Amino acid sequence: MGQRLSDYRLFLREFRQTFHSTGAILPSGRRLSRALACKVGCGDQGQRVLEVGAGTGAVTAQIVAKLGPEDRLDLVELNERFAEVLERRLQREESWQRVADRVRVLQMPVEELDQDRRYDVIVSGLPLNNFSCEVVEQILGQFHRLAARGASLSFFEYVAIRKAKALCAKTAERRRLTGIETILRRELDAWEVDRDCVLANVPPAWVHHLRLPGEKSQVAGQESRVVGSEVTPITDPGH
Ligand SMILES: C[S@@+](CC[C@H](N)C(=O)[O-])C[C@H]1O[C@@H](n2cnc3c(N)ncnc32)[C@H](O)[C@@H]1O
Repeated sequence: MGQRLSDYRLFLREFRQTFHSTGAILPSGRRLSRALACKVGCGDQGQRVLEVGAGTGAVTAQIVAKLGPEDRLDLVELNERFAEVLERRLQREESWQRVADRVRVLQMPVEELDQDRRYDVIVSGLPLNNFSCEVVEQILGQFHRLAARGASLSFFEYVAIRKAKALCAKTAERRRLTGIETILRRELDAWEVDRDCVLANVPPAWVHHLRLPGEKSQVAGQESRVVGSEVTPITDPGH
């Protein structure tokens, strides 16, 4: 309880001071966190898991609980105060200590993460609605580059928020929001395999689950498409 209260306080402070990158007034609720972590622990072999925008670790706690003995977890967090909280939780909380030797906290923007790495599961808590269209494209491109073949990507967005904001926004802001809508729609049309509606969150949220082709993949399915659990190239079927 003490941990949660101090997380809430820190979140609120960062929301005021760094709204653009923090993007939420409170950490994600338990149901939303569980839905985001649902692809962790599903592999036959050890999974390489990446959580982007881990904040104070609401989703991380769910990931940590599901991490198998061979799994590894990288936490990428831009904000140094949040990164410190994550380090502290790894040192002090029993369930986190259990996996601490397989977890790394990388305090940096995800855009700068080494592109030679590949992950089987990517979980993102990034507030995409706060970013420019160029940054959203850049981040999605980075997720594709970081994805191993058939990797899952789970991310959330609050239900109807973007459309509601666009209705009241001035022209430039409306253009940015509808641009993000178009970029995400294209990405979801190409790669989404499943989604959850989490009503028990404030505000309610969609959790999108995508299966990315990985390795040589392109953004939004220009070269390959996922059919069931298979990644099928559409430009060269014999490849
Ligand atoms: C909406 S909060 C989500 C926090 C946490 N996952 C949760 O659900 O409670 C977004 C987080 O993304 C981080 N963030 C924003 N831009 C980032 C970037 N480019 N790279 C890595 N982390 C970023 C913020 O610092 C913040 O912790």
